[in-house]
Amino acid sequence: MRRKIAAGNWKMNGTRASAAVVQALAKAHPAPGCEVIICPPAPLIPILTGLQTPFATGAQDCHANPKGAHTGDVWAETLADCGATAVIVGHSERRADHGETDATVSAKAEAAWRAGLTAIICVGETEAERDAGRTLEVVARQLAGSVPEGASAANTVIAYEPVWAIGTGRTPQDGDITEVHGGIRDRLSARLGADTAALVRVIYGGWVKPANAAAIFALDDVDGGLVGGASLKAEDFGPIIAAADG
Ligand code: PGA
Repeated sequence: MRRKIAAGNWKMNGTRASAAVVQALAKAHPAPGCEVIICPPAPLIPILTGLQTPFATGAQDCHANPKGAHTGDVWAETLADCGATAVIVGHSERRADHGETDATVSAKAEAAWRAGLTAIICVGETEAERDAGRTLEVVARQLAGSVPEGASAANTVIAYEPVWAIGTGRTPQDGDITEVHGGIRDRLSARLGADTAALVRVIYGGWVKPANAAAIFALDDVDGGLVGGASLKAEDFGPIIAAADG
């Protein structure tokens, strides 16, 4: 049985006052049946964990190395020490803006595990790749390169995020989401064995909104969502948590 996840990726948004959003969500969903993970900018992590809500707090990135001379970067251990229990790695915005390769993402996932964090590993095709009919091939290649040996249901969540859907108002057809999620589980099965693959959560990201969350989360092999814009307001993310609650 895979518990659904409603993960909010605040990206580069929010201030300390944004804690009010999380407080409002916790008031409306004091005992969610799903796992709620809020991923704010790193400086806000201790503020959110200090709220003592039923929600987990995650980071949006970590460095691959264990401490050292990397100005501006954050070590996974520091994130864990601040109360984070998960970290997103390989988001398409980091792959595009910071030139992160599958090898970088894999190293970051391993760094996350060493710190005891769950790695939310993102994969997804660009519009050009989709138009060329290469979606499954691209996602399989990213999975092979970005998911380290030793992945398990306890330390890893896969987020399928078609790059062309993120923040655009477009989502894939239901059948396309099901096909990719099923393909991801098949690959995980080949890598990790069927028993482990059956337990790993595979969540969908890209224009998840209150209006479409329930339908997307009900699709086969979809175990919840990674939500950007709609995670910034309690009135939007609340119904998405409710959809993941099922
Ligand atoms: P979106 O972003 O929900 O705003 O499309 C999703 C993401 O990038 O994780």
